[in-house]
Amino acid sequence: MKNIGIIGFGNMGEAFASGLRGRFGGLGFGVVEKAVPRMEAAKKGYGARDFTGDFRGLLDFADVTIIAVKPQDAEAVLRELAPYSGGRKFAAIVAGKTLAFYQGYLQTPYLARFMPNLAAMYGKAAVGVCFPEAGGEAREFGAFRGEALELAGAAGWALEVPEKLMPVVTGLSGSGIAYVFAFIHALALGGVKTGLAYDRACAVALQVIEGAAAVVRGTGDSPANLIAKVCSPAGTTIAGIAALEEAAFSAAVMRAVEEAALRAEELEGV
Ligand SMILES: NC(=O)c1ccc[n+]([C@@H]2O[C@H](COP(=O)([O-])OP(=O)(O)OC[C@H]3O[C@@H](n4cnc5c(N)ncnc54)[C@H](OP(=O)(O)O)[C@@H]3O)[C@@H](O)[C@H]2O)c1
Repeated sequence: MKNIGIIGFGNMGEAFASGLRGRFGGLGFGVVEKAVPRMEAAKKGYGARDFTGDFRGLLDFADVTIIAVKPQDAEAVLRELAPYSGGRKFAAIVAGKTLAFYQGYLQTPYLARFMPNLAAMYGKAAVGVCFPEAGGEAREFGAFRGEALELAGAAGWALEVPEKLMPVVTGLSGSGIAYVFAFIHALALGGVKTGLAYDRACAVALQVIEGAAAVVRGTGDSPANLIAKVCSPAGTTIAGIAALEEAAFSAAVMRAVEEAALRAEELEGV
């Protein structure tokens, strides 16, 4: 890949540009963006070429084009892309839009759907990726699959799933990041309730979350085993865990993931 096209240089468009630039030097960016300040950010920050109003030029320039507009803007973009889309390569990160939706407009087998989360802006997202089943194992499609997974990986970590599991990735990653924000806030409130100021309690909570992730990664142990290791008999931690479970903590988080996945399915019209 030499040149990447990005349609919609908002939060996600820029997050991918930033991740890609960090991971692969020497890439060129071509951008279509209707908001002038966002286009200025693309030009100044990433040396992007402005292809706004010239979709054909963008597709001639780009090896792969990332579609990163809001769901309500996607159809208008696809209508304009359609006449020049034959055999071109696309990765779309529009929530709630299925591969069938893109296939209704774009005349190409080279399609990938991404579901990232906000951490893409720091190259730390878990990104669900799916491809059309008909793409198959043909050599050309295999090469595209590799490119698309590299693109997704630039936003953090890529996980290929069948399209029917994209709502689950939405519940766990796309929306799931907000549950972690909620947990950080709740930990901090606990700190406040027991005597720390909110800002300091938040700083402690954040360090605890980062530390917990480092321990799970570093040890390779399951969270269940780690809980057992940290809880000494009749100690402080088991008292806290008991309080969490009395409030149905695990069930509530499971429900949150499930509800978000169901809502994602509803939006996809599956
Ligand atoms: N943000 C997240 O955490 C997240 C997570 C997962 C998936 N996604 C998906 O990623 C997509 C992008 O989200 P975002 O947060 O990056 O949105 P965003 O910040 O609003 O960026 C979209 C950009 O596209 C521009 N745009 C709209 N129509 C256009 C057109 N026809 N041609 C060129 N540019 C156009 C918008 O300009 P205007 O503002 O002037 O309309 C805006 O600057 C969404 O579909 C969302 O579902 C986002």
